[in-house]
Amino acid sequence: MKNNIVYLNGDYLSLGDAKISVLDRGFLFGDGVYEVIPCYKGKLFEFDAHITRLKHSLVEISIDYAYTVEQWRQLLQPLIDNSRNQYIYLHLTRGVGIKRDHAFSKDMIPTVFAMCSNIIPVNNLEQGIKGLTLDDNRWRLCHVKSTALLANVLLKQQAIEIDNSEAILIKDGYVTEGAASNLFAVIDGVLMTPPLTHSILAGITRQVILKIARANNIDVVEQEISIEELKNAQEIWLTSSTREILAVVKLNGTNVADGKVGQLWYTLNRLYQNYKISN
Ligand code: PDD
Repeated sequence: MKNNIVYLNGDYLSLGDAKISVLDRGFLFGDGVYEVIPCYKGKLFEFDAHITRLKHSLVEISIDYAYTVEQWRQLLQPLIDNSRNQYIYLHLTRGVGIKRDHAFSKDMIPTVFAMCSNIIPVNNLEQGIKGLTLDDNRWRLCHVKSTALLANVLLKQQAIEIDNSEAILIKDGYVTEGAASNLFAVIDGVLMTPPLTHSILAGITRQVILKIARANNIDVVEQEISIEELKNAQEIWLTSSTREILAVVKLNGTNVADGKVGQLWYTLNRLYQNYKISN
């Protein structure tokens, strides 16, 4: 963060001075959407894709905010420190109501907030992480990057409290995604990831991995993965903008294959790091 400066509704302020009304619908109802955008040494990563997803989320919840990619870029620029690897947290809510009311008026002025934080590199990346499968008890619009994340929060916390790094969510016997990540698995030598439906977020990291894999003739399919297939997978990865590609080496306390980070992870991670440098 540049001198702890954040953006709120047209102003650049210190974090401590950024205040919102208690009648903000984001505060009262989680009525908003957000993006998390990596910025490597001042270079915004996959910025167009993040802004496109933000637009989709806004349309899905009927917030009208006609900002172009360039306008967003200019708005965020003062927050960015060119000497660091950071991520931008960009958050829009429906705005401040005159009273607490579930129904909303269509002409509200959205609250816009953005801040920048340092990306903390993952320790011991090549040791892999532990994942815990849990019932996906979230709502049915998981393709919307909603700030209403209580289910995700509780699921992740449940996993963390028993020494796992992430909750892997299961719906009707099939994997959806992680509490804050998408999932890939290598099954019978083929890289697989669940298809884009309303049950998962269209992760930008996921999209980049699909692109890189296809460009390098690595077999990859977007296909449902059953819990049985997951348990027998040769590799499992969790992907997100802040933590990139993490290999899961233990699932519910049991080794994934030989319990070591797999070969395809090494290949894809290398390709991903190269892609980051050149894009
Ligand atoms: N979350 N699925 C969920 C539920 C997520 O929350 C995230 C990321 C992803 C991965 O999306 P992407 O590759 O675009 O980061 C998938 C962010 C990092 C967060 O909430 O902090």
